[in-house]
Amino acid sequence: MSNILLSSSLDEIGSIVSRFQTGGKVAIISDENVYDLYYERCRQSLDTAGFSIIGYKFKVGEKSKSVDTYIKILEFLAQNKLGRSDSIIALGGGVTGDLAGFVSATYLRGVKLFQIPTTVLSMVDSSVGGKTGINLESGKNLAGAFYMPEIILQDANFLSTLPMKELHNGHAEMIKMGIISGEELFKKVSEPLYNMDLNHISTLIKTCSELKMEIISTDFHDEGRRQILNLGHTIGHAIEKLSGYKISHGEAVAKGLSVISDISEMMNYCIKDTSDAIKNTLKKCKFNQEMPFSAEEISKAVRNDKKVRNDEISLILIEEIGRCKIVSMPLEEFDNCLREAMNRREI
Ligand SMILES: NC(=O)c1ccc[n+]([C@@H]2O[C@H](COP(=O)([O-])OP(=O)(O)OC[C@H]3O[C@@H](n4cnc5c(N)ncnc54)[C@H](O)[C@@H]3O)[C@@H](O)[C@H]2O)c1
Repeated sequence: MSNILLSSSLDEIGSIVSRFQTGGKVAIISDENVYDLYYERCRQSLDTAGFSIIGYKFKVGEKSKSVDTYIKILEFLAQNKLGRSDSIIALGGGVTGDLAGFVSATYLRGVKLFQIPTTVLSMVDSSVGGKTGINLESGKNLAGAFYMPEIILQDANFLSTLPMKELHNGHAEMIKMGIISGEELFKKVSEPLYNMDLNHISTLIKTCSELKMEIISTDFHDEGRRQILNLGHTIGHAIEKLSGYKISHGEAVAKGLSVISDISEMMNYCIKDTSDAIKNTLKKCKFNQEMPFSAEEISKAVRNDKKVRNDEISLILIEEIGRCKIVSMPLEEFDNCLREAMNRREI
């Protein structure tokens, strides 16, 4: 597996790509915000290294992770004659990484991909592990491919321009990693990120992304242990979709983590102290744990989740901090558990 995390600066991207390609074209794909902030620096570095560069910017937001934008980018690459031995750089957050990653996996049956994540969420999570994809009308990430980048370039300096709201958004995935990993990391990520300096955040990002890398290295195709990373996501994805993507991925995952800790406690997988610890951490880190949708609405939305097969859902439940379990249950049982857990909630 060639998924390499590289702590480096954006200015070095030209010499990094040179290790994989001599001359030729590089396409930089970004959303409008990131393009305006960082495209020129990226372009200059590649230009100095002797590449010819084409740039594509798309509208900011989850709605761009669509079939429409995907096709537009493919056409743009074809019109600009990007070839089999050329490369694509995904410069941006998780939306860019997923979209440009899927483009790389499918354009000419696959061209080299370099991931340059610029949000906390994309540094700790979405750029690591090779999952790429777009949303369909029916649900999130329903079309996609496993596709490894040559390199993931981690440069914490991107965080200096990241809005506070986005710093917060990525924090939910770090809390998830803490629950999966154990008390030591859970404690470290249980403080609001805006209280930490950039160096400290950068160290935590490194720990979380290395942990994810370690998990996926044992189960690249998500058939076993990797599913643990889905903690909080089945309900989270349903909330994101029901909100028309107005609720961010991180906010939705935080709500998902909160409800799944209630379900885990209700089903006697964990004790009350464990679910309280998770909900208190989410509260301390300023995540809103209120559920804006009914159990029935969530149950209906969950039916389009990739984790549903033959009317069974694969759910990640919490046994204790540092120990989660993959549990398969009939959808009907899930509906009942969700309804009961949501009725009991005091949040
Ligand atoms: N592939 C995976 O394994 C995986 C895992 C988790 C999440 N995801 C996906 O990731 C996506 C969410 O990613 P996200 O939260 O990074 O969203 P995003 O890509 O939309 O970025 C969030 C916002 O931050 C802005 N931004 C990005 N970097 C910036 C910077 N350095 N300075 C200033 N502004 C910046 C963007 O323009 C955007 O407005 C979702 O689509 C989710 O499904 C994928």
